[in-house]
Amino acid sequence: MSEFVKIATTAEIPMGEMKGFEVAEEKIVVAHTEKGYFALIDECTHDSAPISDGRIRNGELLCKRHGARFDPETGDVLAPPALVPLDTLELKVKGEDILILLDE
Ligand code: FES
Repeated sequence: MSEFVKIATTAEIPMGEMKGFEVAEEKIVVAHTEKGYFALIDECTHDSAPISDGRIRNGELLCKRHGARFDPETGDVLAPPALVPLDTLELKVKGEDILILLDE
């Protein structure tokens, strides 16, 4: 079964920033771009660095360790050295709360 779980408030993640969370033993990064809020697994597919240690540049997630770039909406790789996309999670904003869909 899956359910939406509150992970943060919108005030915690200003536009152009991202933040890492640990929920139900999953490391998750929530990014806030001009297109909205997005949730992804917080582990770079290249060498496991936390994506949340990097930053958002031109609406893309930039991994701090070796510079791979990912699309926050789809998780797709936009620049190497990563080759495998990041997994994404379903997210919705309800009032001031950011909720993500977690499997139980
Ligand atoms: S660990 Fe992210 S680019 Fe290498």
